[in-house]
Amino acid sequence: MSDDKISSNPAIDAALHLDGDPQKLRAYYDDWARSYNLDIDSAGYSGPVCGARLLQRYLADTAAALLDAGCGTGLVGIELATLGYCCIDGFDLSEAMTEQARASGVYRRLNGGIDMLRATDSFAVASYDAVISVGVFTPGHVPPEALEVLLQLVRPGGLLVISTRSQYYDQTGFQQLIDALITNRRLELIELLRDAPYNEDGRAHYWVLGKPIPEATNLGK
Ligand SMILES: C[S@@+](CC[C@H](N)C(=O)[O-])C[C@H]1O[C@@H](n2cnc3c(N)ncnc32)[C@H](O)[C@@H]1O
Repeated sequence: MSDDKISSNPAIDAALHLDGDPQKLRAYYDDWARSYNLDIDSAGYSGPVCGARLLQRYLADTAAALLDAGCGTGLVGIELATLGYCCIDGFDLSEAMTEQARASGVYRRLNGGIDMLRATDSFAVASYDAVISVGVFTPGHVPPEALEVLLQLVRPGGLLVISTRSQYYDQTGFQQLIDALITNRRLELIELLRDAPYNEDGRAHYWVLGKPIPEATNLGK
């Protein structure tokens, strides 16, 4: 990732230049946890609202099992709960961010200290109707391959809702990974909101992706 300034807010900009090192990310967010909401609110962050509303468009069942991956202080969970969802689990790399999320009272299960790339060690494969991740596929955070881990956690026929900040989309192989997964029938593109509102410094794409149900093998004939 380049050294160019991405955000006019110093705390946000520093986070976006952490180069994906989980130890640095964890330490940074542990320090930032108490003032995170204030900083991102002052930057006009609308990612959680956009992501949650997009999920609602395709998942009417408010009893569906949801996983908020990289839940941070719980802003996505709060939006989902406002929309009526009741079974929301979450995890984050930072324990202190997860503590803030716990205080929201909207999550069923929350785990801190979880690296998205190893999330299948802690969460059962194919156990969620939908996985949502907002603000994590962003510069300095996770590589595109983290999407494949989240895909494993979704049940066949389930959904993934992901935001990709514009600089992240432009500078990583996220689109190439999506193309490969679609070609290999591991993923379907349901909706892509391009250049949608994210915060005052920039925009994001929001993806609704489906995990296909494997075709039944025709055994009898
Ligand atoms: C910009 S915040 C977004 C938090 C929340 N989803 C939101 O929209 O407010 C990014 C979050 O990703 C978490 N994170 C960064 N790298 C991670 C990783 N490898 N695994 C899990 N979480 C990670 C950080 O700890 C932080 O809480």
